[in-house]
Amino acid sequence: MAASVSIPTTRLPSGASMPVFGLGTWRMGESARMRAAEVKALRHGIAQGVTLIDTAEMYGSGEAETIVADAVGNRRDDMFIVSKVLPNNASRRGTVAACERSLKRLKTDRIDLYLLHWRGSYPLADTVAAFEELRAAGKIRGWGVSNLDHDDMHELWGVSHGRHCQTDQVLYNLTRRGIEFDLLPFCRKHEMPVMAYSPLEQGRMLGHKVLAEIATQHDATPAQVALAWLLRQNVIVIPKATSTAHVDENLGALQLKLTTTDVATLDRAFPAPTEQQPLDML
Ligand SMILES: NC(=O)c1ccc[n+]([C@@H]2O[C@H](COP(=O)([O-])OP(=O)(O)OC[C@H]3O[C@@H](n4cnc5c(N)ncnc54)[C@H](OP(=O)(O)O)[C@@H]3O)[C@@H](O)[C@H]2O)c1
Repeated sequence: MAASVSIPTTRLPSGASMPVFGLGTWRMGESARMRAAEVKALRHGIAQGVTLIDTAEMYGSGEAETIVADAVGNRRDDMFIVSKVLPNNASRRGTVAACERSLKRLKTDRIDLYLLHWRGSYPLADTVAAFEELRAAGKIRGWGVSNLDHDDMHELWGVSHGRHCQTDQVLYNLTRRGIEFDLLPFCRKHEMPVMAYSPLEQGRMLGHKVLAEIATQHDATPAQVALAWLLRQNVIVIPKATSTAHVDENLGALQLKLTTTDVATLDRAFPAPTEQQPLDML
Protein backbone atom coordinates (compact mmCIF):
# COMPACT_ATOMS: atom_id res chain seq x y z
CA MET A 1 0.00 0.00 0.00
CA ALA A 2 1.73 3.21 -1.16
CA ALA A 3 0.81 6.59 0.27
CA SER A 4 -1.72 8.52 -1.72
CA VAL A 5 -2.39 11.16 0.91
CA SER A 6 -0.32 14.12 1.91
CA ILE A 7 1.38 13.79 5.27
CA PRO A 8 -0.45 15.57 8.11
CA THR A 9 1.43 18.03 10.26
CA THR A 10 1.33 18.87 13.93
CA ARG A 11 1.95 22.21 15.60
CA LEU A 12 5.08 22.84 17.64
CA PRO A 13 5.02 25.21 20.65
CA SER A 14 6.72 27.84 18.43
CA GLY A 15 3.73 27.74 16.09
CA ALA A 16 5.77 26.06 13.34
CA SER A 17 4.28 22.97 11.76
CA MET A 18 6.06 19.67 11.61
CA PRO A 19 5.10 16.52 9.68
CA VAL A 20 3.90 13.63 11.84
CA PHE A 21 5.69 11.02 9.72
CA GLY A 22 9.39 11.03 8.89
CA LEU A 23 12.29 8.78 8.03
CA GLY A 24 14.86 7.64 10.60
CA THR A 25 18.54 7.22 9.74
CA TRP A 26 20.15 5.37 12.64
CA ARG A 27 22.52 2.68 11.32
CA MET A 28 22.80 4.50 8.00
CA GLY A 29 26.27 5.58 6.94
CA GLU A 30 27.96 2.71 8.74
CA SER A 31 28.88 0.72 5.64
CA ALA A 32 30.06 2.05 2.26
CA ARG A 33 28.43 -0.98 0.64
CA MET A 34 24.99 0.08 1.90
CA ARG A 35 25.28 3.77 1.02
CA ALA A 36 23.56 3.68 -2.38
CA ALA A 37 20.61 1.69 -0.95
CA GLU A 38 20.29 4.11 1.97
CA VAL A 39 20.28 7.19 -0.29
CA LYS A 40 17.78 5.41 -2.56
CA ALA A 41 15.41 4.61 0.33
CA LEU A 42 15.43 8.22 1.57
CA ARG A 43 14.96 9.57 -1.98
CA HIS A 44 12.11 7.15 -2.48
CA GLY A 45 10.41 8.42 0.66
CA ILE A 46 10.92 12.04 -0.41
CA ALA A 47 9.42 11.23 -3.82
CA GLN A 48 6.36 9.81 -2.03
CA GLY A 49 5.92 13.08 -0.14
CA VAL A 50 8.00 12.60 3.02
CA THR A 51 9.67 15.84 4.10
CA LEU A 52 10.80 15.00 7.66
CA ILE A 53 14.15 13.25 8.14
CA ASP A 54 15.64 12.45 11.55
CA THR A 55 19.40 12.17 11.81
CA ALA A 56 22.24 12.84 14.27
CA GLU A 57 25.94 13.62 14.33
CA MET A 58 26.34 10.23 16.01
CA TYR A 59 24.86 8.14 13.19
CA GLY A 60 27.64 6.62 11.13
CA SER A 61 29.97 9.13 12.86
CA GLY A 62 28.53 11.89 10.67
CA GLU A 63 28.09 9.79 7.53
CA ALA A 64 24.31 9.55 7.97
CA GLU A 65 24.11 13.34 7.67
CA THR A 66 26.02 13.20 4.37
CA ILE A 67 23.58 10.54 3.15
CA VAL A 68 20.70 12.85 4.07
CA ALA A 69 22.37 15.66 2.07
CA ASP A 70 22.73 13.36 -0.97
CA ALA A 71 19.13 12.21 -0.72
CA VAL A 72 17.70 15.70 -0.28
CA GLY A 73 19.69 17.28 -3.13
CA ASN A 74 17.94 20.42 -4.34
CA ARG A 75 14.76 19.73 -2.32
CA ARG A 76 16.13 21.32 0.87
CA ASP A 77 13.48 24.02 1.04
CA ASP A 78 10.71 21.38 1.08
CA MET A 79 12.32 19.46 3.93
CA PHE A 80 12.17 19.44 7.73
CA ILE A 81 15.53 18.19 9.01
CA VAL A 82 16.12 17.08 12.58
CA SER A 83 19.64 16.46 13.86
CA LYS A 84 21.20 15.97 17.28
CA VAL A 85 24.24 16.97 19.26
CA LEU A 86 26.04 14.30 21.28
CA PRO A 87 26.10 14.90 25.05
CA ASN A 88 29.87 15.03 25.15
CA ASN A 89 29.78 17.93 22.66
CA ALA A 90 26.91 19.69 24.43
CA SER A 91 28.85 22.45 26.22
CA ARG A 92 28.08 26.08 25.35
CA ARG A 93 30.85 26.28 22.73
CA GLY A 94 30.86 22.58 21.83
CA THR A 95 27.19 22.64 20.81
CA VAL A 96 27.74 25.55 18.44
CA ALA A 97 30.79 23.85 16.92
CA ALA A 98 28.94 20.53 16.55
CA CYS A 99 26.06 22.28 14.84
CA GLU A 100 28.44 23.96 12.38
CA ARG A 101 29.91 20.54 11.51
CA SER A 102 26.44 19.06 11.03
CA LEU A 103 25.43 21.98 8.78
CA LYS A 104 28.48 21.30 6.58
CA ARG A 105 27.73 17.58 6.32
CA LEU A 106 24.06 18.27 5.66
CA LYS A 107 25.05 20.87 3.02
CA THR A 108 22.54 23.33 4.41
CA ASP A 109 22.50 26.66 6.22
CA ARG A 110 19.96 25.66 8.89
CA ILE A 111 18.60 22.68 10.82
CA ASP A 112 14.85 22.76 11.43
CA LEU A 113 15.01 21.10 14.83
CA TYR A 114 18.25 20.47 16.75
CA LEU A 115 18.11 18.10 19.71
CA LEU A 116 20.30 17.20 22.66
CA HIS A 117 20.67 13.45 21.98
CA TRP A 118 20.63 12.48 25.65
CA ARG A 119 21.71 14.03 28.92
CA GLY A 120 25.39 14.08 29.69
CA SER A 121 27.55 15.93 32.18
CA TYR A 122 27.16 19.47 30.81
CA PRO A 123 24.50 21.52 32.59
CA LEU A 124 21.26 21.80 30.63
CA ALA A 125 21.57 25.58 31.00
CA ASP A 126 24.78 25.60 28.91
CA THR A 127 23.28 23.53 26.10
CA VAL A 128 20.11 25.64 26.10
CA ALA A 129 22.20 28.85 25.94
CA ALA A 130 24.01 27.44 22.89
CA PHE A 131 20.73 26.40 21.29
CA GLU A 132 19.34 29.90 21.80
CA GLU A 133 22.48 31.42 20.28
CA LEU A 134 22.17 29.12 17.25
CA ARG A 135 18.50 30.00 16.89
CA ALA A 136 19.19 33.73 17.04
CA ALA A 137 21.83 33.26 14.34
CA GLY A 138 19.33 31.42 12.11
CA LYS A 139 21.41 28.23 12.14
CA ILE A 140 18.60 26.26 13.75
CA ARG A 141 14.89 27.00 13.53
CA GLY A 142 14.12 25.42 16.88
CA TRP A 143 15.55 23.05 19.44
CA GLY A 144 14.48 20.17 21.59
CA VAL A 145 15.74 17.24 23.60
CA SER A 146 15.84 13.47 23.41
CA ASN A 147 15.75 10.76 26.07
CA LEU A 148 14.88 13.25 28.81
CA ASP A 149 12.62 11.75 31.45
CA HIS A 150 9.85 13.47 33.38
CA ASP A 151 12.20 14.75 36.11
CA ASP A 152 14.70 16.02 33.52
CA MET A 153 11.91 17.93 31.78
CA HIS A 154 10.96 19.59 35.07
CA GLU A 155 14.59 20.59 35.50
CA LEU A 156 14.69 21.92 31.93
CA TRP A 157 11.57 23.95 32.64
CA GLY A 158 13.47 25.70 35.43
CA VAL A 159 16.39 26.68 33.18
CA SER A 160 16.47 30.09 31.48
CA HIS A 161 14.66 29.69 28.10
CA GLY A 162 14.18 25.97 28.86
CA ARG A 163 10.52 26.33 27.92
CA HIS A 164 11.53 27.06 24.33
CA CYS A 165 11.95 23.29 23.96
CA GLN A 166 9.89 22.03 20.98
CA THR A 167 9.91 18.25 21.48
CA ASP A 168 11.25 15.31 23.49
CA GLN A 169 12.28 12.45 21.20
CA VAL A 170 11.89 9.22 23.15
CA LEU A 171 11.56 5.48 22.77
CA TYR A 172 7.83 4.90 22.38
CA ASN A 173 5.90 2.06 20.82
CA LEU A 174 3.30 -0.50 21.86
CA THR A 175 5.89 -2.51 23.79
CA ARG A 176 7.35 0.59 25.52
CA ARG A 177 4.46 2.54 26.96
CA GLY A 178 6.12 3.83 30.14
CA ILE A 179 5.98 7.48 29.03
CA GLU A 180 2.18 7.40 29.17
CA PHE A 181 2.32 7.58 32.97
CA ASP A 182 3.96 10.98 33.39
CA LEU A 183 6.18 12.17 30.52
CA LEU A 184 3.50 12.11 27.82
CA PRO A 185 0.97 13.97 30.01
CA PHE A 186 3.68 16.56 30.78
CA CYS A 187 4.38 17.07 27.06
CA ARG A 188 0.66 17.24 26.28
CA LYS A 189 0.11 19.81 29.02
CA HIS A 190 2.73 21.99 27.37
CA GLU A 191 1.37 21.26 23.88
CA MET A 192 4.72 19.81 22.88
CA PRO A 193 4.49 16.84 20.49
CA VAL A 194 6.61 13.80 21.33
CA MET A 195 8.75 12.19 18.62
CA ALA A 196 8.52 8.41 18.95
CA TYR A 197 11.79 6.71 18.05
CA SER A 198 12.11 3.00 17.26
CA PRO A 199 8.34 3.02 16.59
CA LEU A 200 8.63 -0.57 15.29
CA GLU A 201 10.87 -1.64 18.18
CA GLN A 202 13.46 -2.16 15.41
CA GLY A 203 11.26 -4.90 13.97
CA ARG A 204 11.20 -7.04 17.13
CA MET A 205 7.49 -6.52 17.81
CA LEU A 206 6.25 -7.26 14.33
CA GLY A 207 5.71 -10.99 14.87
CA HIS A 208 3.18 -10.42 17.67
CA LYS A 209 -0.03 -12.40 17.13
CA VAL A 210 -2.39 -9.57 18.08
CA LEU A 211 -0.74 -7.15 15.66
CA ALA A 212 -1.11 -9.76 12.91
CA GLU A 213 -4.80 -10.33 13.73
CA ILE A 214 -5.67 -6.63 13.64
CA ALA A 215 -3.59 -6.16 10.49
CA THR A 216 -5.50 -8.95 8.72
CA GLN A 217 -8.84 -7.36 9.58
CA HIS A 218 -7.75 -4.13 7.87
CA ASP A 219 -5.88 -5.71 4.95
CA ALA A 220 -2.83 -4.03 6.47
CA THR A 221 0.45 -5.19 8.01
CA PRO A 222 1.70 -5.40 11.62
CA ALA A 223 4.07 -2.48 11.01
CA GLN A 224 1.18 -0.34 9.79
CA VAL A 225 -0.87 -1.21 12.88
CA ALA A 226 2.06 -0.33 15.16
CA LEU A 227 2.56 3.05 13.43
CA ALA A 228 -1.17 3.84 13.18
CA TRP A 229 -1.48 3.28 16.93
CA LEU A 230 1.15 5.99 17.55
CA LEU A 231 -0.19 8.35 14.88
CA ARG A 232 -3.70 8.38 16.35
CA GLN A 233 -2.39 10.23 19.40
CA ASN A 234 -0.60 13.20 17.81
CA VAL A 235 2.82 11.58 18.18
CA ILE A 236 5.45 12.01 15.44
CA VAL A 237 6.83 8.72 14.08
CA ILE A 238 10.21 8.30 12.38
CA PRO A 239 10.52 4.66 11.28
CA LYS A 240 13.82 3.81 9.62
CA ALA A 241 13.82 1.70 6.47
CA THR A 242 16.56 0.88 4.01
CA SER A 243 14.14 -1.12 1.91
CA THR A 244 11.91 0.97 -0.39
CA ALA A 245 9.14 -1.60 0.13
CA HIS A 246 9.31 -0.89 3.87
CA VAL A 247 9.14 2.85 3.18
CA ASP A 248 5.93 2.36 1.17
CA GLU A 249 4.48 -0.01 3.74
CA ASN A 250 5.18 2.40 6.58
CA LEU A 251 3.62 5.31 4.69
CA GLY A 252 0.51 3.18 4.31
CA ALA A 253 0.00 3.52 8.08
CA LEU A 254 -1.23 7.07 7.45
CA GLN A 255 -4.32 5.63 5.80
CA LEU A 256 -5.07 3.06 8.49
CA LYS A 257 -7.67 4.13 11.03
CA LEU A 258 -7.82 1.82 14.03
CA THR A 259 -11.25 1.29 15.61
CA THR A 260 -11.94 1.67 19.33
CA THR A 261 -12.21 -2.12 19.45
CA ASP A 262 -8.72 -2.43 17.88
CA VAL A 263 -7.34 0.00 20.43
CA ALA A 264 -8.95 -1.91 23.32
CA THR A 265 -7.51 -5.18 21.97
CA LEU A 266 -4.06 -3.59 21.73
CA ASP A 267 -4.42 -2.25 25.30
CA ARG A 268 -5.02 -5.79 26.54
CA ALA A 269 -2.04 -7.21 24.62
CA PHE A 270 0.28 -4.29 25.42
CA PRO A 271 -0.92 -2.81 28.72
CA ALA A 272 -0.47 0.84 29.61
CA PRO A 273 1.73 1.54 32.66
CA THR A 274 0.06 1.66 36.06
CA GLU A 275 3.01 3.20 37.88
CA GLN A 276 5.98 5.47 37.22
CA GLN A 277 8.75 3.75 35.24
CA PRO A 278 12.20 5.05 34.34
CA LEU A 279 12.41 6.09 30.70
CA ASP A 280 13.58 3.27 28.43
CA MET A 281 16.41 4.05 26.02
CA LEU A 282 17.97 2.18 23.13
N1 LIG B 1 17.04 9.80 19.93
C1 LIG B 1 17.49 8.56 20.08
O1 LIG B 1 18.19 8.23 21.06
C2 LIG B 1 17.14 7.54 19.06
C3 LIG B 1 17.35 6.17 19.32
C4 LIG B 1 16.97 5.25 18.36
C5 LIG B 1 16.43 5.69 17.16
N2 LIG B 1 16.28 7.02 16.90
C6 LIG B 1 15.72 7.53 15.62
O2 LIG B 1 14.51 6.84 15.35
C7 LIG B 1 14.62 6.17 14.10
C8 LIG B 1 13.79 4.90 14.10
O3 LIG B 1 14.22 4.00 15.11
P1 LIG B 1 15.08 2.68 14.81
O4 LIG B 1 15.84 2.83 13.55
O5 LIG B 1 15.84 2.39 16.06
O6 LIG B 1 14.00 1.53 14.71
P2 LIG B 1 12.63 1.28 13.91
O7 LIG B 1 12.32 2.39 12.99
O8 LIG B 1 11.64 0.87 14.93
O9 LIG B 1 13.00 -0.03 13.08
C9 LIG B 1 13.93 -0.05 12.02
C10 LIG B 1 14.13 -1.50 11.57
O10 LIG B 1 12.85 -2.04 11.18
C11 LIG B 1 12.93 -2.48 9.83
N3 LIG B 1 11.67 -2.09 9.19
C12 LIG B 1 11.28 -0.86 8.81
N4 LIG B 1 10.04 -0.90 8.29
C13 LIG B 1 9.63 -2.18 8.35
C14 LIG B 1 8.45 -2.84 7.95
N5 LIG B 1 7.43 -2.18 7.41
N6 LIG B 1 8.37 -4.19 8.16
C15 LIG B 1 9.40 -4.86 8.72
N7 LIG B 1 10.55 -4.28 9.12
C16 LIG B 1 10.66 -2.95 8.94
C17 LIG B 1 14.11 -1.78 9.20
O11 LIG B 1 14.61 -2.62 8.18
P3 LIG B 1 15.29 -2.08 6.82
O12 LIG B 1 16.22 -0.97 7.22
O13 LIG B 1 15.97 -3.29 6.29
O14 LIG B 1 14.20 -1.60 5.89
C18 LIG B 1 15.04 -1.65 10.38
O15 LIG B 1 15.75 -2.85 10.57
C19 LIG B 1 16.13 5.93 13.97
O16 LIG B 1 16.51 5.55 12.68
C20 LIG B 1 16.65 7.25 14.44
O17 LIG B 1 16.52 8.23 13.43
C21 LIG B 1 16.60 7.95 17.86
